[in-house]
Amino acid sequence: MQSFAFVNPTKLIFGKGQIEQLSKEVKRYGTRVLLVYGGGSIKRNGVYDDVLNELEKINAHIVELSGVEPNPRLTTVQKGIDLCRQEEVDFVLAVGGGSVIDAAKAIVVGAKFDGDIWDVITRKARPTGGLPLGTVLTLAATGSEMNANSVITNWELNQKVGWASPYSFPKFSILDPAYTFSVPKDQTIYGIVDMMSHVLEAYFHQTANTPLQDRICESILTTVMEVGPKLVEDLQNYDHRETILYCGTMALNGFTQMGARGDWATHNIEHAVSAVYDIPHGGGLAILFPHWIKYAMSENLDRHVQLATRVFGVDPEGKTDEQIALEGVEKLSAFWTSIGAPVRLADYDIDDSRVEEMAEIAALFGDFGNFKKLNKEDTAKILTAAL
Ligand code: NZQ
Ligand code: ZN
Repeated sequence: MQSFAFVNPTKLIFGKGQIEQLSKEVKRYGTRVLLVYGGGSIKRNGVYDDVLNELEKINAHIVELSGVEPNPRLTTVQKGIDLCRQEEVDFVLAVGGGSVIDAAKAIVVGAKFDGDIWDVITRKARPTGGLPLGTVLTLAATGSEMNANSVITNWELNQKVGWASPYSFPKFSILDPAYTFSVPKDQTIYGIVDMMSHVLEAYFHQTANTPLQDRICESILTTVMEVGPKLVEDLQNYDHRETILYCGTMALNGFTQMGARGDWATHNIEHAVSAVYDIPHGGGLAILFPHWIKYAMSENLDRHVQLATRVFGVDPEGKTDEQIALEGVEKLSAFWTSIGAPVRLADYDIDDSRVEEMAEIAALFGDFGNFKKLNKEDTAKILTAAL
């Protein structure tokens, strides 16, 4: 293991009806609230009413920022920052999926930054503080509810950039599995792919002696693979929603990555694809991850073999390590296909015309990937294989 210090300050409030904790939690930070949400799903499924009902209890002054896009945009973040300043907001409440939460993270940090928030996102400037943030999660996928990460798209520059800061951890996050009942089938599938991808990114590291970390990762993957298909067939099943919601949080709240540095190249490549074609994150990952695994296979083959045998149930008898690893990645692809995830970039009408551009965007900040270093040329090869 590598030496590490671990902190995760987010208070996780999980379970049916736990929205009743909201007013008490918000009150700790003030009553002038910026309510951030997306395109209206929370109005259709009743979550908006539940939230307003809670905020009424503390006589909150509510300012709304609606319309946060999937793959949230810098322009929307800037609107939120302006609202915080004009309305002297003292607390930001994000109600939605990862996109809403990610936008809110940039808003809270931007509201306390004297300059352009894009400079913080692109690491040209250091953040100087943040308004307190709370979240009510409505979609199991990103883990944004219990991490400091945020991913923002600058559509003018065709850049989608991930960043994090100590000021962007939510103070609390409320997770009610019933709030995810209305998530449609496709977004449920993307969420399953995304959380599995977070675990895979963490799993592919080059650090020796991580037996517990490995088994934490493997148990999240096997749980998602056991319950995910049942959920896709039965979207209103509370127990399955509950399990998948918890898996999504555990997949990216830091617990899988203590003492080892995961790869994260596939996420970087997917963000480049989304920056150009605005496709759903989980859909892009389902297409790209198997190709990354094949590309990185010669690197530390033992880890590929361990994953294939322990998680995908590959029988090693009479096979070379490479055959075992390849069978593992085929089983991963087959699993994602079986639940209805896309397989090729062509499924999103993406052809070879902008491969170079996407490769360039992925390598904008230099070579990337901690398990296997990739450059622009490697990225173009992976994208071409995925067409
Ligand atoms: O906008 P609304 O109307 O709310 O609809 C959303 C959106 O259309 C809908 N939805 C959410 N909850 C719903 C619901 N529909 C019905 N019922 C509900 N309960 O689902 C659609 C997708 O929402 P979005 O928030 O975009 O999905 P997700 O949670 O997958 O977030 C994706 C974004 O997060 C980033 C991705 O790159 C992408 O921009 N990521 C953030 C990470 C993080 N902060 O840690 C890590 C991830 O790897 C990822 O990169
Ligand atoms: Zn992801």
